[in-house]
Amino acid sequence: MNVPKHVAIIMDGNGRWAEKRGLPRSSGHLEGSKTLEKLAIHAMDMGVEVLSVYAFSTDNFKRSEEEVNYLMDLFIKMFKTKFDKINKRGIKVFISGRKVNLRKDVLEAIENIEEKTKDNTAGILNICLNYGGQEEIIDGAIKLAKDIQNGLDVTNFKREDFYKYLYHYLPPIDLLIRTGGELRVSNFMLYEMSYSEFYFTNTYFPDFDKSEFNKALFMYENRDRRFGGINDKKGN
Ligand code: IPE
Ligand code: IPE
Ligand code: MG
Repeated sequence: MNVPKHVAIIMDGNGRWAEKRGLPRSSGHLEGSKTLEKLAIHAMDMGVEVLSVYAFSTDNFKRSEEEVNYLMDLFIKMFKTKFDKINKRGIKVFISGRKVNLRKDVLEAIENIEEKTKDNTAGILNICLNYGGQEEIIDGAIKLAKDIQNGLDVTNFKREDFYKYLYHYLPPIDLLIRTGGELRVSNFMLYEMSYSEFYFTNTYFPDFDKSEFNKALFMYENRDRRFGGINDKKGN
């Protein structure tokens, strides 16, 4: 099976999942967090090396204080206790995004989970939190500008070289999944998705279980990736 090395998921539809059941939006987020724990382990079992997930965008601060606080508390709970299975499975956790605007207790929980899992080698779960794709490119460009000021020669600077300036040094995205029915990328990993295959599904994220994930993998297997060339399935 031709398994994508880097899969990214825009985990959308938690609120609607809950509203459909007459529940508060928060219970959709809670259910979504359980789905994520299971999916991360399943993805690694299937041979995926990196799973990036969109957990909270820089623009999600536009939501009510109540919802934002619920989500921040949930992240803390997940990182502090709930991720034990993920850690035991040998998965390294990265958090990508801007640190400004995040509460001190959230920052501590981020440090805690990154430190706890730093020697794990079975795969990477990259959680995008207070993340924006354009912001990541801007932050990377600022770091690069500093290096240039310090004498870096950029005469032969290639697009691959810019990956080092992103929040974490990860490979490009092979497969991008969006749950919840919207056909947009909402400022997710813009630099990394330049040649990724897209899979959109109406399924709300809490219902996006292993078999739904496998459907995306099967679809991916049949895509003809050309990278601008002709009938070159390997894309070299
Ligand atoms: C995605 O679900 C999770 C976050 C953005 C934090 P939503 O909360 O956007 O759910 P919908 O799109 O309103 O259903
Ligand atoms: C994208 O979903 C962000 C996350 C999944 C965390 P949104 O629900 O925020 O995106 P829009 O508002 O529908 O574009
Ligand atoms: Mg949404």
